[in-house]
Amino acid sequence: MPAPADAGLFRHGVASGDPLADRVILWTRVTPADPRAVIDVDWRIAADPALGQVVAGGTVQARAARDFTVKVDAGPLRPDRRYYYAFGARGERSPIGRTKTLPEGPTARVRLASVCCSNYPAGFFNPYRGVANRADLDAVLHVGDYIYEFQNGVYGDGSGLLRIPEPRKEAVTLSDYRIRYATYRSDPDLQEVHRVHPFIAVWDDHEVTNDGWAGGAANHNPERGEGDWAVRQAAAYQAYLEWMPIREAAGAGIHLYRSFRFGTLVDLLMLDTRGVRDRQAPGKDLAAIADPRRTLLGAPQEGWLFDELRASQRAGTAWRMLGQQVMFSRVTPPQWPVPYPDTWDGYQGARDRVLDFLAAERVRDLAIVSGDLHSSWAFDVTRNPWDGYQASTGAGALAVELLTPAVSSPPLFVNPGAREMAPLLRAALPHLKLLDGERRGYVLIDVTAERLLAEWYFVPTVQERTAEETRGAAFVCERGSSRLVTA
Ligand SMILES: [Fe+2]
Repeated sequence: MPAPADAGLFRHGVASGDPLADRVILWTRVTPADPRAVIDVDWRIAADPALGQVVAGGTVQARAARDFTVKVDAGPLRPDRRYYYAFGARGERSPIGRTKTLPEGPTARVRLASVCCSNYPAGFFNPYRGVANRADLDAVLHVGDYIYEFQNGVYGDGSGLLRIPEPRKEAVTLSDYRIRYATYRSDPDLQEVHRVHPFIAVWDDHEVTNDGWAGGAANHNPERGEGDWAVRQAAAYQAYLEWMPIREAAGAGIHLYRSFRFGTLVDLLMLDTRGVRDRQAPGKDLAAIADPRRTLLGAPQEGWLFDELRASQRAGTAWRMLGQQVMFSRVTPPQWPVPYPDTWDGYQGARDRVLDFLAAERVRDLAIVSGDLHSSWAFDVTRNPWDGYQASTGAGALAVELLTPAVSSPPLFVNPGAREMAPLLRAALPHLKLLDGERRGYVLIDVTAERLLAEWYFVPTVQERTAEETRGAAFVCERGSSRLVTA
């Protein structure tokens, strides 16, 4: 793997994302010596790795107003093809990226890797390297926490690893967030995984700040000079859209929910459960937690989700997949009075609406891919795990959930006291198939018309760079079963 350039115009690499059957977003950034410069950047996309058979190309301008990032919606392309692309400016060439369009029509197989929670000071991005080393993926699903907003040392100290993120303070302003993305994109493993695979990404809370909701965040503190929430959120969103290979929606407002059709095999629906949600209810406020008026998705997104699921089921698409942030499954045993308010457990009315919809519309073969918790979980998704669900047969299950461990953030159960939670949860949750609270890695999701296979790959450490990984767990969901079985 070539070392990333730490000088020159193209020092942040290249990326692609939001693939469709006929087009894909291509991304790069130039770093000019003069911040007032306007730089012509040419691009081309080709059918071969040597970029001989060019199928599209052009020139775009990089300028300060978008932090010198460049995004192109390249097409028209042919479905289910690998393509290769590069940028050039002022006589310099970028690395050559590789991407893939979505299939159309009958589709035998789809392979995705799911990742989240890459925390630069907390460790090396070894899981990204593992994903980059897989040549046969259709796309990488990033379910959020692509960056962390904190000052070094608050959540992960990169001093010993020489991974201190810039700026040397918490990211609050547009300039802060842009600089933070630039630090992350200096990482060679992150650059490589972007270079070789298209990304389909959504944000979680740390792209803005910890435990965010539509109107604020636990870690937004105007009294400490962090200013107006709306200004901060808009700044964070702007930097995200500048730096991520995402197709930007037309019109007012920002929403990230969008769908990707992998031929007749998978409809992937990406959700934003963070940016438009109601404030977390205090854990003891059970009435608020059950209140159907409280929302995680907001009415427009919820309506869109239901329309998409219904249409997908009726079209006969084999599988439906949700890419979203916070854990969906019920994880609070009845004898535990206080639910964890930052997951769908804290928005039970909203979750009931989804479950009611799945049951009423007979939406089947649905896999919910989540992240956020810095741990690995797998569930049969059921309305009530203790009533009307049978673990031995999967009777009563409506979907399955696959929760992605962190790339490098500190694992959930590493601290004494927390570690003891794992066996208690395993004993208390009949629908829980996997809980690993101590390792980092990613999930490989391999889909055919007959079954969905999910494999958890773990890395031995993030304290040094390594390509080592182990297959830690694997479950299969046979089509029509809505349940996970050890593979
Ligand atoms: Fe995270």
